[in-house]
Amino acid sequence: MLTLPTKARIAVLVSGGGTNLQALLDAQSSGALHSGEIVLVVSNNSRAYALKRAEAAGVPSAVLTRKGCGGQAEFESALHELLTENAVDLIVLAGFMSILSGEFTAKWDKRIINVHPSLIPSFCGQGFYGLRVHEAALNYGVKVTGATVHFVNEVPDGGRILLQKAVEIRPDDTPETLQKRVMERAEWIILPQAAEMVCANILKKRETGK
Ligand code: GAR
Repeated sequence: MLTLPTKARIAVLVSGGGTNLQALLDAQSSGALHSGEIVLVVSNNSRAYALKRAEAAGVPSAVLTRKGCGGQAEFESALHELLTENAVDLIVLAGFMSILSGEFTAKWDKRIINVHPSLIPSFCGQGFYGLRVHEAALNYGVKVTGATVHFVNEVPDGGRILLQKAVEIRPDDTPETLQKRVMERAEWIILPQAAEMVCANILKKRETGK
């Protein structure tokens, strides 16, 4: 009889510092993330510190760049192949600063989640990433921001919301202080929680065949 893996296989896509990757690795070590296992880290930036975090945790990693592959379509087809070879069930975008095409996201329907550093639908979509999101929130003058984890579809930051957590804005906040607080109080908490939720659901569907 065919035995299926008891954990969903997770690939984490990164571009930079990888603190959200670290939160996932820590959640795996503590058992908070127990329905899934991080089997691969893919970076589109060879200098990303996230690659060092993967190495320190003993997780295999790969670097794939649009330029190195010869274009977006080629990048996505190499990525798809790599993920398929590694029998990946769930893709987690953790500070992955590149937009995936509708063709790619359709192949991985309900199998890609992303963490975004605002309360969607505010300050999201094309051009809103990293510190820019916090600059926009401060410029607008909102008093509350936060983070969102959502499924990824063809609309940038437009897929179904899984979890959100609010964070207050302080009068003396800079984009940097706000980014740090949103990470600590929201992103690093809800990303592992959402990954666990989706992985548990993948396993349940696999068991029940529904
Ligand atoms: C995080 O704040 C993440 O939410 C954001 O980039 C940062 C990456 O930090 N992502 C986006 O803005 C995507 N639209 P990390 O590399 O330390 O996890």
